[in-house]
Amino acid sequence: MDIQSGMSLSPHDAAKNAVEPNMAEPVTLKTLKQMTRRGEAFACLACYDATTARWLERAGVPVLLAGDSAAQVVLGFERTIDMPLDFAIQITAAVKRGAPRTLVMADMPFMSYHRSIDEAMGNAARFMTEGMADVVKLEADETQAGIVDRLTRAGVPICAHVGCRPQTSSVTGGPVAAGRTGDSLEQVVKDAAALQDAGAVLLLIEAVPDEVTARVMEIAKVPVIGIGAGTGCDGQILVVNDLIGLTDQPPRFAEPVAQVGEALIQAGRQWVKNVSDRRIGGKRYTMRAGESEKLGAGGQVDRVDCNRLSNPG
Ligand code: KIV
Repeated sequence: MDIQSGMSLSPHDAAKNAVEPNMAEPVTLKTLKQMTRRGEAFACLACYDATTARWLERAGVPVLLAGDSAAQVVLGFERTIDMPLDFAIQITAAVKRGAPRTLVMADMPFMSYHRSIDEAMGNAARFMTEGMADVVKLEADETQAGIVDRLTRAGVPICAHVGCRPQTSSVTGGPVAAGRTGDSLEQVVKDAAALQDAGAVLLLIEAVPDEVTARVMEIAKVPVIGIGAGTGCDGQILVVNDLIGLTDQPPRFAEPVAQVGEALIQAGRQWVKNVSDRRIGGKRYTMRAGESEKLGAGGQVDRVDCNRLSNPG
């Protein structure tokens, strides 16, 4: 309902209006810092296309990540290490085009920032320019602080992803939680501290016990985003497909809040039935005035029959 006119809004206008209170200004790092200072937890989601991004911006989600989880979710690979660099840049730009007022993070794929500083700089630059990223995320430990330092000095805002780092899961034999022993806890805290000292503007911790989060929060001077890291972080991120019920076996920390998979099944079944009943709906094309008559009897369509088939009743 439009409050001023008292008239019902179309879904499109309603969605447009829904944006206004939450996202009048573009979201920046400053916004996240202010929210963090005020103790307001901020929501983030990984998504991979302009349409989804547009709806999530309308929902007021301030941060979107064009995650390398797209390798699994979009491309159907088993592992995130199969994420192609060019595709990662393309989806980052797509998300930004769909959600221009949202803070969009790019996700540097496996081996796109490890071989040399020059290569890391070149690839990060592509995410910032072609991908229009506001922040570039990379999975790192303390040994990669040098790369974070160089990228930061060159003007690339870095989100350092610590804890469980799915790009290293071939070494660990699959994605595993981090920080479940005292030594491992200390390592995650050391990683976070070193990467923050190197200039990271955001930290992201994945799949750690609450004790690890509490320690990281003690040393954090920048906003900390968690995934499977308890409620103690400044922001929380999930993969949108896990949130909306499109994932067959979501990770243990992801609780769906909608059943879009079920809705898709219903829509697909309905379309199968409509097609088989010859009820395709929508509006039909017609020939220009007088053109149909020129076709002669053989070329003319039985319009009555056609209409009956597309709009029965
Ligand atoms: O690629 C991804 O989806 C991530 C998560 C932290 C959400 O890195």
